[in-house]
Amino acid sequence: MSLPTHIAIIMDGNGRWAKGQGFRTRIRGHEVGVEALRRTAQSCAELGIRFLTVYAFSEENWSRPKTEVDALMRILVSSLSKELPTLMQHGIQLQAIGKLDQLPKSAQRELNEVKAATAGNARLVLTLALSYGSRQEMLGAAQTLAREVSEGKRSVESIDEAAFSNALYTQGMPDPDLVIRTSGEQRISNYLLWQISYAELIFMPVLWPDFSREHLEEALAQYASRERRMGKTSEQLNEQSN
Ligand code: IPE
Ligand code: IPE
Ligand code: MG
Repeated sequence: MSLPTHIAIIMDGNGRWAKGQGFRTRIRGHEVGVEALRRTAQSCAELGIRFLTVYAFSEENWSRPKTEVDALMRILVSSLSKELPTLMQHGIQLQAIGKLDQLPKSAQRELNEVKAATAGNARLVLTLALSYGSRQEMLGAAQTLAREVSEGKRSVESIDEAAFSNALYTQGMPDPDLVIRTSGEQRISNYLLWQISYAELIFMPVLWPDFSREHLEEALAQYASRERRMGKTSEQLNEQSN
């Protein structure tokens, strides 16, 4: 069975989950969502997935009510230190992408500590997208490259796909092979637009806090059943594999 090297997940549906369970606020959904992420990262490590990149907080999410944003930041800070033993136990290296300097100082500090503590782990790279927006990321890359041209450090012709990829937050990472979005919404919401140009997309109706090992395996089976033609014909692919 062909396994994706890199899975990207849009962890959606926490608010609806909390409402469905009769909780007064959406916050409980975010707290239980952390448990779903722990399960999923553990499963990915066990299954031999090398990269898992999860959408935890978008740039657009800053426009949510302040009480919810504050709660999300509090959950982020408390989870980071709490989850360190699990990360170490499963050989998971933590990374983060996004406008991290917009996060509260306490969150930046915890992120740096957990990143440093897990830097030697090599089984799975778990990347949190925080204050992340793909268009903003690409604009940043365009500005970096333009600056290098204007300073005489590179030529216009040297800006190819590899150079552009290298100017993104995800530099050095392979592109995601599979994108999973939970909650039934079928949109990308400004996530990794450049990087997912040839990824398989799977939209699942399950709400993120309910996402289990079985859901992950169902997505992996669906992924394995798809033919990734990358512009070629089915016949060409069959010839190559023979
Ligand atoms: C995803 O769940 C978590 C974040 C965006 C931080 P939501 O909070 O979007 O939950 P729904 O989509 O409103 O149910
Ligand atoms: C996308 O979810 C961002 C995260 C999962 C962190 P949203 O719930 O914010 O997406 P939209 O606004 O419904 O598209
Ligand atoms: Mg949502």
